[in-house]
This record gives sequence, structure tokens and C-alpha cells, in this order.
Amino acid sequence: MTVRCDHTPAWQELGKHFETSAKRFDLREAFGADGKRFERFNQSAPQVFADLSKNLVDARAEELLLTLARQSGLKARIDAMFAGERINATEDRAVMHYLLRSPKGRQGPTGELAQVHETLDAMLAFAERVRRDHTITDVVNIGIGGSDLGPQMAVLALDEFVAPGKHFHFVSNVDGHELDGVLKGLAPEHTLFLIASKTFTTAETMANARSAKRWFEQSGGTDIAGHFAALTTNVEAAREFGISTTFGFWDWVGGRYSMWSAIGLPIALAIGAEGFRAFLAGAHAMDEHFRTSPLEQNLPVRLGLLDVWYRNFHRFTSRSIAPYHSALKRLPAYLQQLEMESNGKQVDLDGQLLPYGTSPVLWGEPGTNGQHAYFQMLHQGTDVVPLEFLAVRDAAHDLPGHHPKLLANALAQAQALMQGKKDAGGHRNFPGNRPSTFFVLERLTPESLGAFIAMYEHRVFTSGALWGINSFDQWGVELGKVLAKDIEPRLTSGDVAGLDASTAGLLQRLRQG
Ligand code: F6P
Repeated sequence: MTVRCDHTPAWQELGKHFETSAKRFDLREAFGADGKRFERFNQSAPQVFADLSKNLVDARAEELLLTLARQSGLKARIDAMFAGERINATEDRAVMHYLLRSPKGRQGPTGELAQVHETLDAMLAFAERVRRDHTITDVVNIGIGGSDLGPQMAVLALDEFVAPGKHFHFVSNVDGHELDGVLKGLAPEHTLFLIASKTFTTAETMANARSAKRWFEQSGGTDIAGHFAALTTNVEAAREFGISTTFGFWDWVGGRYSMWSAIGLPIALAIGAEGFRAFLAGAHAMDEHFRTSPLEQNLPVRLGLLDVWYRNFHRFTSRSIAPYHSALKRLPAYLQQLEMESNGKQVDLDGQLLPYGTSPVLWGEPGTNGQHAYFQMLHQGTDVVPLEFLAVRDAAHDLPGHHPKLLANALAQAQALMQGKKDAGGHRNFPGNRPSTFFVLERLTPESLGAFIAMYEHRVFTSGALWGINSFDQWGVELGKVLAKDIEPRLTSGDVAGLDASTAGLLQRLRQG
């Protein structure tokens, strides 16, 4: 039985606690008063260590947030997901991406695990064959959203593990500049195209796939079966398109949760079967942590509760992430879809308008780059933006001096945000007391990346469950798609009948010249 967060007694208590004292909470005082704050507010989970102590949360708030989780029935919601219940109610689907990383032979909720492993084995065997095939030098993934962001982020992040001699390209935008730029450097006989689309209907992906196929044929390519593979739940549509090499998955895998499925083929091609299995194993360990740990020692739960605390009581509207590892440059974009497409909702499970905020805006850039761009605002701006640091203890290079500089910057920024600095002049004053979370991975490996991403998935699940929303649909993307279909032919015909004056004026301007 789940209860919307604002219908629980704990919600009222949190409101009172915030008003009476928590809104004046000061991190510097808290550390001064409690020599054990770091020990009490850190949490270890598989592959991930998190220091939560520099967050604006005292013992009372933490206790009330845990009570909120209990009174909302969070555990029942977690159990429902892991039991394969159709918790994505608006699409009448189960949500079982965790099954994709479940080891062989384990009891799955619905008996689908055998199929999962059959597909995984076939996909990994294909990946190994292509890795040994030196005629294939370039892999082009054509897909968008969840069919692009995860594989792209992971292939870049795991660069250290990528087989030499293969180049990976990701084409997502319907803007022809992107595909054109990639195709210019390719030869059909050396290229493998992966058409990645859960539905195999997404307009951008289909337009890019058609153009890639045309280019392949016009440039003398002959063996479509050997140079095109489809990663999709809609194997039928892929066959109609002319692709016979297909790797399927299931409707219970949401697009933004799909890189563990056939959509992860570029990752498997890049890091090999063993690497991909390690990636899945890292995520599985985090699934088990989330499923079985008590709420108070459950890292995704503690993070999700903080997210609710910040969004609904402190009323922070955004959160920033700074991965201190240049290979994680696409992590913020990946997490943006995960969090904002999942929790950017305004109605509860019954379709009732919510009286409180949901998904924050998530954004970021790798450190130290962000420091020289927008960190000014984080330190001295008028809004408080909780910041998340992700640091990796061991470097994968041996250039002297760089890694200590990088880590020192991450630590110093978190310290500066918290401590601040008094200056009577105003311009040089740092208010401090700005919250941050600090994640540490020992090394950036397939396993630790898998665990970190699964942690994020479950954290988004936690806040979505408390908010009483469906984190697994995405109706908000539909309207624009429908309107684009109406507008596209008008760009040729010039017909502006029925359009608002602004759209009509812009359309005419875009047709001129
Ligand atoms: O339009 C949004 C969306 O449906 C995302 O949820 C999804 O990840 C993306 O488009 C791509 O969809 P598909 O994999 O079906 O092409």
C-alpha cells in the first residue's frame, strides 16, 4: 500500500521541523557540534562510497525523512518493482530493467530471465566476432534518447578498456550535419551500423537510418546483413526495413533504462563480453543493495530522500553534478534524461495535479572545467544549488602531478562551498553553507560505472515513489512530435493556415532565401 508523501504525518512534521529550525541549519556549526558527523553521514554501497555529511540535514530531518519513506510505503513499492508488478500503470507495463543484470539461473519474477540470457549470450557472441573482425574499423550507433545517451556515455567513460582499432560514432540528431559529418570519414566495407530504437518508429532515428542505408548502397556497400544490425523490441519493423541481424528486448525495459539490454551492444563492442558482464554485475550488486538494505543504510534511498527534502522543503529547483573525470563528460546528459524524463511529472498516479514540486533541473559539466565557467554562481549566486562531486581515487594514466591536482580541486570546491569566507567588502564574500554530496569510486571500471548508474536509477525511483508519480512513462514528449509532423510539409508548401502568428511568422522566415 503506497501513500502520497503529502498525505503522511511525517510530511507535516518535516514542514514544522523545517520552519522551526532546519531552514537555519548551518553546516559549519553542525560539524563543530558533532565530531562524528562524517562517520554518521557517509554510506558505503557496492563500488560507491558517498559522503552525505555536507548536506543540509540534521539527525531529526534524517529521522523524519526515513519515517516519511516508511509511511509512504516505499518498501512496498520497491518490492512491487522487483516482483514484476505492472507499476508503469499508464502504459500497463512492468518495470524490470534490473532483470537484465540478474545472473543466470536466479529466480526472476516472471520467468523472463532465460530469454534475457539467451539474447545476452547471442549479443555478446556477435560483439566478440565483430571485435575479432579487423575489416570493421568503425561502428556507428544511430539512435536517440535512451538509445543513444547511455551507450555513448559508457563508451566514452570506459575508453581505457576500449579495443584498439575500432572507432565509435554516435548519431542521434535529425540534423543532417551530424550524420553527414560522420559518413564523410567512412568506407562502407569497414563500417557497422547499429540502428538502436526500442520502438523502431522514432522519427529522427528512422530518418538517419534511411539516409545511412542509402549512403551505404550508393557508396558500393553490398552486404546489408553484415553491416547493419537492429537493436529493438520491434524486430518485425526492423526486418521490414531490410535488417536481418537483430537483437531484441522487451516492453518492460524503459528507453532510459535500456543500456543493459541489446541497446548496450556498442558498449559490448567497445569493452568486450567480459567487460559488459562486469558492467552488469556492478549494477546487479547495487540492485541487491537497494532491494535488501534497511532504508537507513540504503544509499539510493538516502539520496532520494535528500532529493525530496531539498525540492519540497528547501525548495531548491536544480541540482548540479560535477564528475571529476574527463571521460565522464556525457554523464550529466545521460543523468538528465534519467531523472528529468522519469520524474518531470505534474500529476500523481491517479492523474491528480500535485501541490508540490517534482524533478529538479539536473545539469553539469566535468570538473575542473565547470569551475572556470558556472561555479561562480554556485559559490556566490542568489540560488542555492546542491552540487554532487564524483571523484575517482586511481587515475588510469601516469602523467605526473595531474591526478592530485584534480582531486585537490574537487575537495577544495566542496570545502569552499561549505565553509565560505567572510569579507566585509561584499564582492569577495562567500556565504558558504552550500550543500554538496561527494561520491568516490576507487577506479572507473565497467563494474563501478554499472553500480553508479544503477544507484542513480534507484534514487530516481525513490523520489518518484515518494512523490507518488509514474517515473516510467514520458507522455510529455508526445505533443511536440505530433505538431512537428503537421509543420514539416508546411515548410515546403508555405501553408500557414491555422497556425498562431508567431509560428507562422517564423515558418515564413525559415523558408526565405
Ligand atoms: O521521445 C522520447 C523517447 O521515447 C525516449 O523515452 C526514448 O529513450 C527515445 O525517445 C528513443 O526512443 P526509441 O528507442 O523508441 O527510438
